Amino acid sequence: MIQARELNRRFGDRTAVERLSLSVPDGTVAGLLGPNGAGKTTTVRLLTCLLSPDSGSAQVAGHDIARDPQAVRRSVGVLTESPGLYKRLSVWRNLHLFAELHGIAQPEESVRRYLSLMGLWDRRKDVAGTLSKGLAQRLALARALVHEPPALFLDEPTAGLDPEAAREVRQLIEDLRSDRRAVVLCTHNLPEAERLCDRIIVLNTRPVAEGTPEELKRRLLGAGTVVRLARPQPELAEALLQLPFVKNAEALDSGLSVETEEAEDHNPELVRRLVELGAEILHILPQEGSLEDVYLKLMEGEHAA
Ligand SMILES: Nc1ncnc2c1ncn2[C@@H]1O[C@H](COP(=O)(O)OP(=O)(O)OP(=O)(O)O)[C@@H](O)[C@H]1O
Ligand SMILES: [Mg+2]
Repeated sequence: MIQARELNRRFGDRTAVERLSLSVPDGTVAGLLGPNGAGKTTTVRLLTCLLSPDSGSAQVAGHDIARDPQAVRRSVGVLTESPGLYKRLSVWRNLHLFAELHGIAQPEESVRRYLSLMGLWDRRKDVAGTLSKGLAQRLALARALVHEPPALFLDEPTAGLDPEAAREVRQLIEDLRSDRRAVVLCTHNLPEAERLCDRIIVLNTRPVAEGTPEELKRRLLGAGTVVRLARPQPELAEALLQLPFVKNAEALDSGLSVETEEAEDHNPELVRRLVELGAEILHILPQEGSLEDVYLKLMEGEHAA
């Protein structure tokens, strides 16, 4: 549904996006992560024809961004960082105008549906300029959705929303996936990305890492195992470090934390060795790394580079 090849974009002598390629099939959510100024918003603007690339190509919903920008714009819903609403018009009019612009068959029906979905039906007569930050964000989301586009680009959709609204938006993103839409989600909220995204692309002007959250965790964090012991046996950590498949071992208050190359393959051997060494094992369990750990590790590498 969304495909980009080697997109490049500079502003003056600053490179904003370099050699960005991505592929987002329908029914999937792709997360764009990266520090401030990494090029996430620029990527969204390139793929939605709000900005032209210096080089590279992309197709969205079968339309080429260079050859048919009009068709691309019709096929995408965009939530930008700043909502860009008509501040003097009512909530209802804001959405209705947009629905008309897209030539929706029954705009009233769609406007009612999406205002209700976003919890804005009661506020429909209010002037958009008087909405709070989060309410304006909800209206901007309704606008991104009202023409039911196959591809959605959501730039920090939950930023500024209260916890309840943020949860509703996350649910909405899952519904979009079930509905076979393709979603590109820019976010700094890593637990949110981990929960929602099928694939993650970490950007720092150029792509730094890409994969499913599980793949990235496996690749960057190795396989961690926690061994709970009946009593503290810190000397075991030292002994484990001598084993060829153990990358790291540390004593914890309640046992050991062991990093091996592949947990599933090495755990039987690990347990056997521990028993030989006199360990009094209560239980062993996998150590869950998070996408946040992955991200911080990647950024450490970027700072060092
Ligand atoms: N219109 C513009 N003119 C000049 N420089 C720009 C313009 N738009 C973006 N940039 C620069 O391009 C780089 C990438 O910006 P971008 O907004 O894409 O980052 P981002 O990843 O969305 O960051 P954030 O997390 O802060 O939203 C930044 O250095 C930014 O200052
Ligand atoms: Mg941004």
